[in-house]
Amino acid sequence: MNVLGIESSCDETSVAVISEGRLISNLISSQDFHTNYGGVVPELSSRAHLQILLPLVKQSLAQAGITLNQIDLVTATAGPGLIGALLVGLSFAKGFAYSIKKPFIPVNHIEGHIFSGFLMEEKPEFPYLCLVVSGGHTLLLLVESETEIKKLGTTIDDAAGEAFDKISKLLGFGYPGGPKIQEAALNQRTDFVDFPIAQCKNEFDFSFSGLKTSVLRFIQKEYGDASKIPNEHLPSIAASFQYSAVRALVVNTDKALRKYKTNSISLVGGVAANKMLRDEFQKLAGKYKKKLVIPSAEFCGDNGAMIAYRGSQLHQAGIKYSFDFNAFPSLSDHTFIK
Ligand code: KG4
Ligand code: ZN
Repeated sequence: MNVLGIESSCDETSVAVISEGRLISNLISSQDFHTNYGGVVPELSSRAHLQILLPLVKQSLAQAGITLNQIDLVTATAGPGLIGALLVGLSFAKGFAYSIKKPFIPVNHIEGHIFSGFLMEEKPEFPYLCLVVSGGHTLLLLVESETEIKKLGTTIDDAAGEAFDKISKLLGFGYPGGPKIQEAALNQRTDFVDFPIAQCKNEFDFSFSGLKTSVLRFIQKEYGDASKIPNEHLPSIAASFQYSAVRALVVNTDKALRKYKTNSISLVGGVAANKMLRDEFQKLAGKYKKKLVIPSAEFCGDNGAMIAYRGSQLHQAGIKYSFDFNAFPSLSDHTFIK
């Protein structure tokens, strides 16, 4: 069984092939030009996906050593994401599956991240607590099986990755913010500023807009505006922010581990690449004596492998989709997150 996975929800075009359950190709093309604009420009993203997708599919099949007709299942991200960008991958995948007369499975992007730990040698064991932290989402979930995913908490405003991106922009480090903040904060004081952690009504929810405002207020009070921050203070502000953002994520995960019975913990999504967060999750896993699965960097950011994996999981569970004429499938029909 050869499964093709296509991801195009934001600024990465990615194509993967899973053959007999083994990942044999995962090509990722990142649209680095968005750095010139300080963030992702949706229209430019769609155009870039359009240009790169077909060559990338050809390259991925060549790497996998298979031809078009040897594909047994086509999967693609159906959302959430940038509509134009999604449509490129989704329309291509549907047309392709139709032409080779093979089934097509639309995959929810977040579910791709949730199960990305299964791409690793050591896999999560159900039920597992999963923290999804990306540029658009922050979700604390209890994953009971492949089709039972309980939402414990989410962000009531900004996503964790969005907070990293906004603070990075404010401090002049540029986009994408996560890796830049992490680099600047390396070996710096985390107690230079004591940024608060928000408390939400639902004990498992997150809020990052308050943290962003406190950074802004601190800068205005101390320096007037961001352009006047002395260079030697920038790394300590970045480190203090990173510390608070990571604490906010860890505190809720800790509470959930106390409350829910789980066999493993999984940390997924772009922000899961963060070293401090990964280290803190190691400590949590030690404290609660749980198996911890964090995907390697290649599978933390957006990638086709997690889409192919989740698509084949759904296919094996007997889930089928017809080729409807709606260009864009309804997302509520394509998620098991309740
Ligand atoms: O999952 P992802 O690649 O795309 C979305 O689905 O959104 O996540 C992208 C996010 C960006 O906000 C980026 O700044 C953040 O992940 N990120 C990080 C790190 N690497 C990427 N955040 C913190 N630390 C990192 N090392
Ligand atoms: Zn993502």
